[in-house]
Amino acid sequence: MNEAPLAAPSLGDRSLFPSLTARAYLAHAAISPPSLLVERAVTQAFGAYAARGALAFGATVEQRGRLRASLAALLGADVAGVGLVPNTSAGVTDVALCLPWREGDRVLLFEGEFPANVTAWQRAAELFALELLWLPADLFRTDPTRAFEALAHTLSKGVRLVALSQVQFQTGFRMPLREIAARAHAQGAEVFVDAIQGLGAVPLDVALDGVDYLTSGSHKWLMGTEGCGVLYVRPELAPALRPHVAGWLSHEDAFRFLVEGPGHLRYDRPVRKRADLVEGGTPNTLGCYALEASVGVLLSLGVDRIYAHANGYLDALEAGLVARGFESLRAKRPEGRSCILGVRPPAGGRHSAPTLQRALGERGVVTSVPDGVLRFAPHWPNDPREVPDVLSVVDAVLAT
Ligand SMILES: Cc1ncc(COP(=O)(O)O)c(C=O)c1O
Repeated sequence: MNEAPLAAPSLGDRSLFPSLTARAYLAHAAISPPSLLVERAVTQAFGAYAARGALAFGATVEQRGRLRASLAALLGADVAGVGLVPNTSAGVTDVALCLPWREGDRVLLFEGEFPANVTAWQRAAELFALELLWLPADLFRTDPTRAFEALAHTLSKGVRLVALSQVQFQTGFRMPLREIAARAHAQGAEVFVDAIQGLGAVPLDVALDGVDYLTSGSHKWLMGTEGCGVLYVRPELAPALRPHVAGWLSHEDAFRFLVEGPGHLRYDRPVRKRADLVEGGTPNTLGCYALEASVGVLLSLGVDRIYAHANGYLDALEAGLVARGFESLRAKRPEGRSCILGVRPPAGGRHSAPTLQRALGERGVVTSVPDGVLRFAPHWPNDPREVPDVLSVVDAVLAT
């Protein structure tokens, strides 16, 4: 089928999202709508299975190779460090189960984090007799001097791993990852990052930022679909992982017995000593096609430019909301910012964050409201010229 060529993606241009009904879609920190490029990639992959069944599978193996390479480019990583996972939780669990723990190892977690970056460490603590230590994530936003003092004190106890989010999901605060990683490494700790609230729209480079392990689902800032994500493991660290999550596809030459005749069915092939050891069974092929298409767009636009674009939008929106009595949780210093603006409703007003979110949504301004914070999250297709319209909808809602 010949399809009409699509317009090239361009910052502030929503034409690749013709089905989107919202007048302003500001919930990319929850779930991103797919662009026509993503829709087409998925439809074509589905069509190939419809037409050719098992014969379509070979192309998907190559596609996953291309996808890992694009994700590596996005992360500033070596492709050997990239594996594919179903979601963020799976990526955290993979590392939590496979790290070569010793009894009594300490893991530093942050209060206020999204639970995906806590639950798996709690399970690992039970299984491997680890000790969990905690620091308040928000202290890095409100009082960085005290936060770094507390970090130094905790690291001095001897910590095996620090597990943090690149961006806090409710305040949108971008954690001082590079500084935390440098201090962690200086004390012999490794660094694990849940990057789902930044990757794709907030600059990150695993080498420069000192990231040892990272994971992210793709339905938020990566603008893919649910059920597909990325795991990064620094290649030098992968050989030490214990392959507790390995499946039949985690072995070297795992496919051989299916294509090369008799005599190749064996159970002793080595498990890959790379991040993709976690790819143990049949993958989410359609999600992989979606993610390849969306990451292609992000790389072509450039994450630095997307970040600057979204922050231009948020500068105007934040000023308008603060003028209306909202409390902004956005960092004062640019290095603490992401593409999320979290606000609390005007003090003493009649509206809670959830009621505001619902009322805004009914009027076509789509936001989200995690942990009681009203969250505005624009991405590359949002046009800053939407902001006056968003503010007029806010006025209409406040007046009700
Ligand atoms: C920081 C953070 N981590 C993880 C998730 C989701 O985890 P998963 O991809 O496992 O559903 C979210 C939001 O849904 C989040 O905000």
